[in-house]
Amino acid sequence: MKKIILITGATDGIGLEASKKLLMKDHHVVIHGKDAKKLQNCIFLLSKFGTVDSLISDLSDLNSVRSLASKILKNYSRIDVLINNAGVLKTTHSEKKRIDIRFVVNTIAPYLLTKKILPLLGNGGRVINVASAGQASVDIDALLGAFTGLDDMQAYCQSKLAMIMWSKFMSNSIDSKETVFLSVNPGSLLATKMVKIAFGIKGKDVNIGANVLVHLAIQEKSQNISGKYYCNDSKQFTSPHQDALNPKNCSNVVKAIDTVISGGNYT
Ligand SMILES: NC(=O)c1ccc[n+]([C@@H]2O[C@H](COP(=O)([O-])OP(=O)(O)OC[C@H]3O[C@@H](n4cnc5c(N)ncnc54)[C@H](OP(=O)(O)O)[C@@H]3O)[C@@H](O)[C@H]2O)c1
Repeated sequence: MKKIILITGATDGIGLEASKKLLMKDHHVVIHGKDAKKLQNCIFLLSKFGTVDSLISDLSDLNSVRSLASKILKNYSRIDVLINNAGVLKTTHSEKKRIDIRFVVNTIAPYLLTKKILPLLGNGGRVINVASAGQASVDIDALLGAFTGLDDMQAYCQSKLAMIMWSKFMSNSIDSKETVFLSVNPGSLLATKMVKIAFGIKGKDVNIGANVLVHLAIQEKSQNISGKYYCNDSKQFTSPHQDALNPKNCSNVVKAIDTVISGGNYT
């Protein structure tokens, strides 16, 4: 069946390659990006493969995420799969934000987007959260914006674990017949802009990551895997960082994210 698949951060790297593959399998793909020119170029490149729409939003700005969600709710009657793929590791402007940009883009924005468009994802929809093998215990004060002294890698690894944790939390509170939640490490050190900037290396074939996203997005029978974490380095569903196995920890992370979203105080 032709699915409507929304993929964030589809203007480069893994997201762009996965979009191309999904279009070639005849799915309707909605690509998201933050840069109008890049989006336009991607639409030009991808439209020869099938039906593709685009949406623009800077996920480091939660109001922009809210507008994005409104646009989606207005223009689509269902989304079969949401792939929260957009992510950032190295940045030049994180210190200017109240909350580290890694938490905003990698953790909070996808949570907010997912919550807002959940009505479109019911009845068998799927949310795929693109995490990482890099995971570190979440400093709740940092997530709330009370502390901004994390280095790039710490902030990234914490933001990715926080994403896995909200994914787990949602899978425990939402019937998997309605919506399935999965987290995935697409593969480590794949050849994308992120890896080149952060590590100065070319990296491994980006198709390793694109293929696993495509597989998780369209494979049948996923209900019994809701809440799980797939590691594409070891090619199996496996345990993420132990913090994500503790429901209380997951709920604390979600509480902090909800506080940020509601504009509440972190004291
Ligand atoms: N590459 C790896 O080895 C690896 C390993 C583990 C996990 N991952 C994860 O895989 C996902 C894709 O990363 P990638 O390696 O393909 O990196 P990438 O080539 O840098 O692509 C990242 C995508 O996210 C978008 N993005 C970044 N900041 C954004 C913002 N503020 N608002 C909206 N969109 C934003 C980028 O937009 P622009 O095109 O405008 O920059 C781009 O489309 C990320 O979540 C990353 O953490 C990657």
